[in-house]
Amino acid sequence: MSDQNLQEAFKGFSKLSKEQRLDKLEQLGLLSKEDREFLVRGGLKDTSLGEKFIENVIGYFQIPMGVATNFRIDGKDYVIPMAVEETSIVAAASKTAKWVRENGSITTEVLGSEIIGQIQLAKVKDFKKFEALIHEKKKYFIELSNQEVAFGLVRRGGGVTEILVRELRREDGLCMAVLHVHMNPVDAMGANIINQVCEFLKSHIEDLTGEKVTMCILSNLVDTKITRAQVVIEKIESDLAEKIEEASYFAYLDPYRAATNNKGVLNGIDPILIATGNDWRAVEAGVHAYASRDGQYRSITRWKRDGKFLVGTLEAPLIVGTVGGVTTLHPAASLSMKMMDVHSANDLSRILAAVGLTQNLGALKALTTVGIIEGHMKLHIKNLTLGAGAEEKEIPFVVKKLEEILALKKRISLSNAIEVLKELRTSQQKG
Ligand code: MEV
Repeated sequence: MSDQNLQEAFKGFSKLSKEQRLDKLEQLGLLSKEDREFLVRGGLKDTSLGEKFIENVIGYFQIPMGVATNFRIDGKDYVIPMAVEETSIVAAASKTAKWVRENGSITTEVLGSEIIGQIQLAKVKDFKKFEALIHEKKKYFIELSNQEVAFGLVRRGGGVTEILVRELRREDGLCMAVLHVHMNPVDAMGANIINQVCEFLKSHIEDLTGEKVTMCILSNLVDTKITRAQVVIEKIESDLAEKIEEASYFAYLDPYRAATNNKGVLNGIDPILIATGNDWRAVEAGVHAYASRDGQYRSITRWKRDGKFLVGTLEAPLIVGTVGGVTTLHPAASLSMKMMDVHSANDLSRILAAVGLTQNLGALKALTTVGIIEGHMKLHIKNLTLGAGAEEKEIPFVVKKLEEILALKKRISLSNAIEVLKELRTSQQKG
């Protein structure tokens, strides 16, 4: 099916019932019959898979999974699975993606290929000697690690590529040495293998240098592999472009705003990480550390005017895997991967960057025009209604009343919902 037809096929998708949405996804070949049945059954019930992942299992915590539509990334159409509990994220992503595809484009790239493992030697007696010995032997250590530990990766075109020595100044005047082991994990996230490589090297380093290794662990600040997305909006009112540029500058200058800006970016990224069974804590940690790389916490996105165009960029370490672990074993994760037709870790990382940047654009556009309340609260009314304790038959009335209050006061809260429900029940008792 052509991309144009795919876009057409998703017109009015949000108005469909859940069954109709599933029908559509199955008709379009985005879900198999088995995937559809899995979703209709309500996902995993039997905890045997959960037992494989974690300890002391007592059940599953279920969060809603939706799909964001309208995304065209690097000229290809995508339907994006998002597992998230927050109202309006999926709607905002789809709406902004539509605006972008009608008025501009999204392109992405991955810069670099290596992740980082760290080996710490808390107190080295003679740093210069240590450094010289490591430099002398590093080629051998790289080859040995590839032969003994990372051979699977080497077969797939990856493996250990570099060992760097860093010196950290201690407050007590002594010297801490840190080795950075660089490794291309290909399509794995690579955490287990890089940790194994570092631990494997430990005794070799100690034997060679006579120094003591303190600990080995990967770093989540992967500045050696950065994913970049760019959105160019060609058709935009200059006033709106300027407002978005200023809002973005705010997040560049001010860490208080940068934190919220980046939270909005991660609203687009985390739900895909969860839907694909990836380690979202690792990505979050990497994103926030990278956001602080010049000593101040800043936004990971930037929007600037370029002539009549508005150009946005996102750059961040978005390290994910597409083979192994939950991504392969969890049926919801594997159907999510199939839905996006993702074949490599880089492909998935590029989608994350594109959706994160689009989500950020949607937030800045709303914040600098109608404000966040309008869109967010309209969609949040149902949550408030349920939160107030409304029963199925009471929901339409409470929702309608809350919509009226929102239109009038531009604001709405749980206490409004509780009050409306109380009034409804009182009037029904009287009647
Ligand atoms: C809310 O989940 C996300 C926003 O706060 C992001 C932002 O302020 O840019 C709307």
